[in-house]
Amino acid sequence: MKIAVVGTGYVGLVSGTCFAETGNHVTCIDIDEKKVKKLASGTITIYEPGLEKIFIRNLNEKRLDFTTNLAEGIKDAQIIFLALPTPPGEDGSADLKYVLGVASELGKLLTDYKVIVDKSTVPVGTAEKVRNAIAEHYKGEFDVVSNPEFLREGVAVDDFMKPDRVVIGTTSERARKIMGELYAPYVRQGNPVIYMDEKSAELTKYAANSFLATKISFMNEIAQLCERLGADVDMVRRGIGSDERIGKRFLFPGIGYGGSCFPKDVQALIKSAEQVQYDFKILKAVETVNENQKLHLLPKIKHYFNNQLKGKHFAIWGLAFKPNTDDIREAPALYIIKALLAEGATVTAFDPEAMHNVKQQIGNVIEYANDQYSTLNNADALIIATEWNEFRTPDFDMMVQKMKHKVIFDGRNLFDVKAMQDKGFYYESIGRPKM
Ligand code: UDX
Repeated sequence: MKIAVVGTGYVGLVSGTCFAETGNHVTCIDIDEKKVKKLASGTITIYEPGLEKIFIRNLNEKRLDFTTNLAEGIKDAQIIFLALPTPPGEDGSADLKYVLGVASELGKLLTDYKVIVDKSTVPVGTAEKVRNAIAEHYKGEFDVVSNPEFLREGVAVDDFMKPDRVVIGTTSERARKIMGELYAPYVRQGNPVIYMDEKSAELTKYAANSFLATKISFMNEIAQLCERLGADVDMVRRGIGSDERIGKRFLFPGIGYGGSCFPKDVQALIKSAEQVQYDFKILKAVETVNENQKLHLLPKIKHYFNNQLKGKHFAIWGLAFKPNTDDIREAPALYIIKALLAEGATVTAFDPEAMHNVKQQIGNVIEYANDQYSTLNNADALIIATEWNEFRTPDFDMMVQKMKHKVIFDGRNLFDVKAMQDKGFYYESIGRPKM
């Protein structure tokens, strides 16, 4: 099939590349000339494991190309995906100016039947707005479909190629058939394509992310209780996760969820609810719990140092909001760094992928190390903020040699509490006994 993808951000680039991978011809369109030039010449613009290889292959085999020209890019396409940003507006609701702006442009360009697909996470009712924006200029036949993505950063290629499910929101038989054909190669293993109306598809995306965020905030509150009652959240997690109704995944307590999706989508769903006079109480609590959880380690650190962080030096392992990404949006590490600096402490940090982004955002108010061990020189304590695999079995002897004090505050529960005690560390983690 011939496909156009408008927007070469994270979702657009992963989707475009993966659609090309099964033999479709994909043209990606973006207004950013520099980016388009880069991509067209074979330089990938995001960090996503496994993506570069298939990006290069499809580029070389001429199934993937890039342009800044919308008219040219969509000319031969049967399906046009909109993968545009929907940033939170001032009141937290999703801002649709990019999506509706392109829809209006499309209205002026369409000359024959095409399927226009909302891939971005958009509030309920957006498909209708897109339809109206196009129909204002184009009187011919077209369909608008809602097809939300459920990609996790770090495993997005796998999530795309073998999705748990594909949600297609359309009431048009014609569009349904085309979308079904497009996705057939991705659901060969039998996972479902779930057809529904546009509004339900739009809400499905928000409901999925909000539910997962709720699971995490719930476990973070259980962890708080564990700390106060002397229980071990790891045991509770296993105890409840074996119940299939609850499930083992997404029950890991930590220092809060971050990233581009959960915080934004939870906020947007609260706002959407407000707009129809519904007070979404659970989600408001989920948000508050998460805000507090990002700084959960702070009181522990302050308590250990008798409220005197001035002049103390901290090592931080991990800056990205989660492993296998360089994304630092809403990353708990940044909240911790800000709080430490405000107390007069100094920080040296290391992250395998995200340091360039942090440098760009906060500059040299902290030091950056070339590897995890170099952060530890003269450190009064180590704080672990992201669970990169390479932090899981470190050389503890080397750590001991470098650190001023053997003190670790672990926001991701990487190590066994008893083993750390045996090694002589003062070790605090989330929701587990101190020993
Ligand atoms: C998420 C959704 O999973 C994906 O389906 C959607 O399309 C986009 O948003 P992503 O933001 O890439 O994906 O991250 P994810 O792996 O889901 O993790 C989100 C956050 O939750 C991270 O900050 C992570 O550290 C945190 N998390 C996750 C926990 O704190 N505990 C857990 O048990 C799982």
